[in-house]
Parts: sequence; C-alpha cells; structure tokens
Amino acid sequence: MRPSFSFPSLICVAVLPILAGAIAPSSWQIEGRSPPSKITAAEIIEQLGPQLSAASTIFGQDDDRWENATERWQAAYQPSFSVVVEPATEADVPVVVKYANAQGIPFLAANRRHGSTKTLGKLKNGIEISLSQLTAIEIAEDQESAFFEGGVWDGQVVDALWEQGFVTGTGSCACVSLMGPGLGGGHGRYQGFYGLIIDMLISMNVVLADGSTITVNETSHPDLWWAMRGAGHNFGIVTSFQAGIHRRTVDEWYIKEYVYTQDKLESLFAVLNEQQEDGGQPKELMNLALFTWDARWPEEPVIQVLTHYVGTAEEAAPFLSAFDDVGPLHSEAQSLSYPAVLDATGTGLNSPMCQDGHTNMQFPFGLLKHNITATRQIYDYYSSVTTAQPLFNQSIVVFEAYSLQGVQAVDPDSSAFPHRDDNLLNDVLVTYDPDSSLDDEAVRIGKQITEFWAQGQPDRERHIYVNYAFGDEPLEQMYGSEPWRLERLRAAKAKYDPDNVFRFYNPIIRN
Ligand SMILES: Cc1cc2nc3c(=O)[nH]c(=O)nc-3n(C[C@H](O)[C@H](O)[C@H](O)COP(=O)(O)OP(=O)(O)OC[C@H]3O[C@@H](n4cnc5c(N)ncnc54)[C@H](O)[C@@H]3O)c2cc1C
Ligand SMILES: *[C@@H]1O[C@H](CO)[C@@H](O)[C@H](O)[C@H]1NC(C)=O
Ligand SMILES: *[C@@H]1O[C@H](CO)[C@@H](O)[C@H](O)[C@H]1NC(C)=O
Ligand SMILES: *[C@@H]1O[C@H](CO)[C@@H](O)[C@H](O)[C@H]1NC(C)=O
Ligand SMILES: *[C@@H]1O[C@H](CO)[C@@H](O)[C@H](O)[C@H]1NC(C)=O
Repeated sequence: MRPSFSFPSLICVAVLPILAGAIAPSSWQIEGRSPPSKITAAEIIEQLGPQLSAASTIFGQDDDRWENATERWQAAYQPSFSVVVEPATEADVPVVVKYANAQGIPFLAANRRHGSTKTLGKLKNGIEISLSQLTAIEIAEDQESAFFEGGVWDGQVVDALWEQGFVTGTGSCACVSLMGPGLGGGHGRYQGFYGLIIDMLISMNVVLADGSTITVNETSHPDLWWAMRGAGHNFGIVTSFQAGIHRRTVDEWYIKEYVYTQDKLESLFAVLNEQQEDGGQPKELMNLALFTWDARWPEEPVIQVLTHYVGTAEEAAPFLSAFDDVGPLHSEAQSLSYPAVLDATGTGLNSPMCQDGHTNMQFPFGLLKHNITATRQIYDYYSSVTTAQPLFNQSIVVFEAYSLQGVQAVDPDSSAFPHRDDNLLNDVLVTYDPDSSLDDEAVRIGKQITEFWAQGQPDRERHIYVNYAFGDEPLEQMYGSEPWRLERLRAAKAKYDPDNVFRFYNPIIRN
C-alpha cells in the first residue's frame, strides 16, 4: 500500500528556477548581511496565503493561534517571527521557502519547539514553518519500516507503533519531535537495540535552501545523506522520511526508581561506572541519574536514579542488586508497557521536563566514565549555587547511561554524528522562571560544571552533543575534531546551501 501522504512521489516536484533576486548575494556570508525586507506581516499573509493548499494556515501575531504556535520550551534566546505558516501538505513547504527567499525573509522549521541553543535567538522577524500538521505515520507493507511525515513526535510515534506491535528509535521525552533530535543523532531508550534515530533512517524527502525538493538516501545525494545524519539542521527541511521499525520484543519494561542522599555519591557512581565499563552495559539496561532538589527531602539535593530494564523484574534483578546495596533513601518499582514508561520516569507530556516557558541554560558533556572526584565537586557546587540562589532550584545535573550496543555497532565514519565512542552523556540544565537578571549567573554555573567534567578527563577531547549544546562551543566539539569531518560538512554546505539559509541551529558556518 502506498502511503497516503505523497511519499515518495514528492521527489518528482520540479526544481523551479529561483525568482530573480530570490537569493541574496554572497555578502550574506559576512557581517552586514542585507537587512530583512521591510515587508509587513499582513503583506506576507496576503501574498503567500493564496499560494498554499487549502488546509494550510497562515497568521500573524494578532491571531489567537499565535501563542500556541510559537511558544517554546526555552524562554531565552528565542527566535522571533512575524508570520506563522502551518503547511497542510509536504508540497507547501517548498512554496514557503521560495517565497521567503524571494522576499529576503529568514525562516525556520518549527517542530516541537524544544530547540534551546543560543543561536536560535539570531533569527529576527522570520517566517516560522510549523510542521504541526505534518504528522502522518504509515507502516510499510513489509512491516519492516514506516513512512513518517516530518512533524511526527515521540509520544505520538511511541504510542502509534506500540499499539500495532512495533517500536523504533525516538528520543526519550514524549514532547520532542523525531527529526529535531534525529538530525543531530537522536539518543533514546531503544538505542542499545537499534542505534540512534539516524541509524533507523532509510530515506528522507528534503526541501533544500533554494526550495528545490530532493530525496536523500544512501544512493541519492550520498554526501548529503552523510551530512544530514548528525548535522542535518544545517541543510534542509525534512518533510517526510522512511525509517526502520522493529517488532516489540517484550510486553513490559521494568522500571525502578532509587533516591539516594549525597553521602552515597561515591559508592553509587562506582556502581554506574562498573555497569557501563567500556560501554558494556547490557542492551536491555539503561540508567538515568540526576542531581535534583526534591520537595520530599528538602534539606539538600538528592541523587535520583531511574533504572530501566527491557524485560521482567527477575531478569533485571542481577543488574539492580548493586543499586540496592548502596542503600537508597527510597526505591519504587513497577512493570509497565513501553508507552507508560515515559510518564513513569518524568518524561511524559505532563512532566516538569516537558513544560514550555522556563529559561533552560543547557550544557552537555560526553564521557567514557565518571571521574568520581569530579562528580563530587559537581554535586557540592550544584548544591551550593542552588542553595545560595533558590530561584535555580529547578535545575538538574543529568547523567544519561543509555545502552550502547546499537550505537557502537555502526561505523562512526558513516555519518556526521561524531560521538559514537562516548559511553555517557551528561548534561546540566540551569532552569528558572524567566528573569534576564539571572542569565549571566546561570551561564556561569553551567560553564563551571562543564569545566569540572573537562578537568575530570584531562586527556580526552570535549564532546558536546549538538542537540544539547549551549550554542557557543567550538565547532570541533559539536561536529568532531577529525579535520575531514568539518571539511566534508563545509563542502556539502557550499554545494547545498551556499547562502547559509539554514544558519540558526548550531550552524557550521558562523556569521
Ligand atoms: C525535554 C527535552 C527532552 C529531550 N530529550 C532528548 C532525547 O531523549 N534524545 C535526544 O537526542 N535529544 C533530546 N532532547 C534534545 C533535542 O534533540 C533538541 O532539543 C531538539 O532540537 C528538539 O527538537 P524539537 O523538534 O522539539 O524542537 P524545534 O525547536 O522545533 O527544532 C529544533 C531544530 O530542528 C530543526 N528541525 C526540526 N524538525 C525538522 C525537520 N523536520 N526538518 C528540518 N529541520 C527540523 C528546527 O528547524 C530547529 O532548528 C531533548 C530536549 C528537551 C527539551
Ligand atoms: C496547539 O498546537 C498543537 C500543535 O503544535 C495542536 O496539536 C493543538 O491542537 C493546538 N492547541 C490549540 C488550543 O490550538
Ligand atoms: C533513494 O532515492 C532514490 C531516488 O529517489 C530512489 O530511487 C531509491 O529507491 C531510494 N532508496 C531507498 C533505499 O529508499
Ligand atoms: C525552591 O525554591 C523555592 C523558592 O524560590 C521554594 O519555595 C521551594 O520550596 C524550593 N523547592 C525545593 C524543592 O526545595
Ligand atoms: C579526576 O578529576 C580530578 C579533578 O579534576 C583530576 O585531578 C584527576 O586527574 C582526574 N582523574 C583522572 C583519572 O583523570
């Protein structure tokens, strides 16, 4: 059965010649890029509206739908828009891109709007191309893959596939899209089995910077296929994609939450290190540890560990006894269907983590193993700064120990994702109700914690996961330090987006 939403027929859409003046001159590459055109929102709506399919919507700031369509997870560094377009079909997307180019208006694909990087704030008075109507999912006839429109999101995909007996790689939080994380790698709960989101991709339909539409896969534009799997935000808008799916292997996951007081930090992180020694944690097991304030224990921050096991309590027991032996303050276990795991582990749609509107200064760091001296320094520092400034007490330090077999089975050179050798993904989120007078201090805290991680592994390069990046890190840390990686990305950029239209999400060309 052919998917209803035009995959893969979109590849046939002709590459229309670009309107005269559509692309600004190459002076865009330097400071002093031509100022945004003076066109008003009303004029954009009047001119672009009639070019879109009937079910598409287009509106400005005075519309009731504005807030819902532009609200973002990250309150700081927000891109600003004069108009929102919600294309109803994939074929509307190139129409918007060509129109924006012709008018010299910057644009950004908005998916679930969890992008937090500082670089997004450089977009002023643009067109938001919201992918909220492009959420179709259709399982392929052979049931080994599915066709997804570009705006599908984790909670939706997890539920829809599970009901039919399947799983695929998604991020961990229900509220995030597939392609937002996916274009930068895409970590998630099934990566031990099946790899990153990019490892599940088979083919993508992409709207390029000039509004032309192409199919990108191993044989069609292989240079872009390489580049978009890790640095994809730089190259185009994915309007649909085909990705592998897998029959679910279990009916229930076993989840056990542990809470520890800080005096257990050293013994607990020794257990975490043992389990993830050389990336050897079984593929069925993943652990998320957090430093967090918890109102149940208000004296000092606690350490929360969420262990996940793809299987039964009995199967999990050999791996969990070490966590019991450390002596938790509290523990609680349940067996749950996979979709229910998201709510149970604080990653559901209603979880604090998924709520929009806070300032979230985010700083990641990839590691081989925990340096327990550094981890202790970080706890003490986190405790002291959030005690001194209680407005920061929603902040967390996260230690993600996803299982790795599926990720490390893939040749690291085969995609632009450069960090397959990391065993642990750490992240600081300095979270608070928006108050710009706190921003400098929040950034200072995040960078200090990054320094503790860096000093804790003095002989290894810094690895920054592009999707958690603050936005000012050196490109080599986000996209890989082997010189050939950035060279290849720059070559693809020169070929597919010479005017750097896609420059708002940790761009490889900074200007
Ligand atoms: C609560 C939370 C949980 C997270 N969990 C995970 C996780 O489990 N695993 C993980 O790897 N990351 C995770 N992240 C990080 C996540 O990868 C990034 O925040 C990502 O940018 C979010 O994508 P989005 O669609 O929600 O955001 P958006 O802001 O809508 O998109 C982010 C960027 O991707 C671009 N983009 C989105 N969709 C497309 C598309 N179809 N085509 C082209 N460009 C597109 C946008 O233009 C934008 O530049 C999480 C972030 C948050 C806030
Ligand atoms: C808000 O936007 C989402 C898509 O991003 C949509 O599903 C939802 O229906 C909208 N809610 C309202 C009240 O318009
Ligand atoms: C890759 O794209 C080409 C061109 O559209 C297409 O013929 C081919 O079937 C695609 N390959 C896969 C694996 O989808
Ligand atoms: C966080 O600080 C606020 C004051 O800003 C306080 O009311 C709240 O109880 C604190 N939360 C915790 C979990 O300690
Ligand atoms: C662990 O971190 C401490 C503090 O930064 C550092 O002095 C030490 O060298 C690190 N240990 C290793 C093995 O790298």
